[in-house]
Amino acid sequence: MRRILPVASGKGGVGKTTFATNFALALSRLGPTVLVDLDTGTSSVRNTIEAEVTRDLYHFFRRGEPLERCLTPLPKRLDPQGVFRNFAFVAAPRHAMEEFTLLSDEHRVRLMRAINSLAADFVVLDLRAGLDVNVLDFLPHSNSGILVFTPHHQAATMAAADIVKALLFRKLRLVFAADGPLATAASRKQLEAVNALLDRVEDAYDDSIPNLDAFLMDLVEAFGEVPLVTALAENVASFGVYFVLNLFDGVRESFEGAVAPFVRTLQAYVSAQLSVHNLGWIVASPEVHKANCERRPIVLQQWREAKPKDPVSSELEELALQAGLTPRQSAAKSVKDYLVSIDRDQALLEQLEVLKAMHRHTATRQVRDNFAYIARRAIHTLDTLPPDRFGQRRLLTPLELFQVLLRGTQPVTRGDADGADAAPLP
Ligand SMILES: Nc1ncnc2c1ncn2[C@@H]1O[C@H](COP(=O)(O)OP(=O)(O)OP(=O)(O)O)[C@@H](O)[C@H]1O
Ligand SMILES: [Mg+2]
Repeated sequence: MRRILPVASGKGGVGKTTFATNFALALSRLGPTVLVDLDTGTSSVRNTIEAEVTRDLYHFFRRGEPLERCLTPLPKRLDPQGVFRNFAFVAAPRHAMEEFTLLSDEHRVRLMRAINSLAADFVVLDLRAGLDVNVLDFLPHSNSGILVFTPHHQAATMAAADIVKALLFRKLRLVFAADGPLATAASRKQLEAVNALLDRVEDAYDDSIPNLDAFLMDLVEAFGEVPLVTALAENVASFGVYFVLNLFDGVRESFEGAVAPFVRTLQAYVSAQLSVHNLGWIVASPEVHKANCERRPIVLQQWREAKPKDPVSSELEELALQAGLTPRQSAAKSVKDYLVSIDRDQALLEQLEVLKAMHRHTATRQVRDNFAYIARRAIHTLDTLPPDRFGQRRLLTPLELFQVLLRGTQPVTRGDADGADAAPLP
């Protein structure tokens, strides 16, 4: 089943394209993979891969070419052995053109539909910097996609947290819309009250309700544990956040410079209920930059398959691969108990443990192996979680998203939600 994995960062220049390109190449060893360059302003993927592009998104938008006819495979020169024959990319238009830099609603919807019908196991989207509809519409509604940030750029870490906030609020606005899925379960007045409170939580300059957890507590106090409150709690607790650290330069630096500030920001301004998962890191290396400049992505250079290991080390490695990827489960009976039971410091310690476990198993590797490791962790996550807890099966237009949320009638268990088809309803 096709899985779409968008790569976003909020801020520019943190390594989205470098990661998306090499990650897609690594994934293609495990199944047919298409990388789509959605940074339609700067067409960065074609600057990273030295391939002759005969058709790109210009041909898709302007010339009516089907998207599958706009795929570019690797030239023999870059992949003489055909190791990456399952990889292809869709290049963005060659030169900046306003029409494609700011995609119209119509263009966006056409492109989403075409991406949804690409014949591939994995579709990786290289998104542009920023937080506009050209980014948000290509991100899932029940998880963050893959966020990239680095220990060296505090603002980028904050921007990644802002993406989570924007996605979550977009979904909550739809769930709690007056004509949304809760219209029959809650009175119009209740929904209006929730939306007015959501405005205040979203407003970073209004610190009377700093985050969704405080907001939930207020709701519990006001209405009790009614279905509306439970639905909100489930929506927040089932949202998965996934990230990759670029320019990794040590466990402590990454923890202090990126992971801890990221988790703390989410806890403070969004919610401490989110489960946050580190998919891996890419070390800072001149080799990576050189490979980009030469337009021969680093994983193309001397790709090595993981060597078969003895059973004990395989098992240990498998455990490290899985570390920190299981969503948190809650045994709490009520929303209030759950909120009170969250241990924020423990969540941070767990992140540190994950970094250490990954480090024990990957420290000796070369930078190009970082991508294979992340690909394996991503596949493990796709295989073990319900669909749409990570990645998405298909991109949804805002209207389709609304309909999906409206259609769901099954209650979901906190920490075990399939966000796409089962909208959390009382
Ligand atoms: N791990 C790394 N080690 C060394 N250099 C890197 C690494 N990752 C990225 N770079 C370099 O950092 C610069 C920015 O990377 P990249 O273009 O991938 O970022 P981006 O987030 O896609 O940027 P934009 O927002 O402009 O699309 C490039 O010059 C790239 O070669
Ligand atoms: Mg880029």
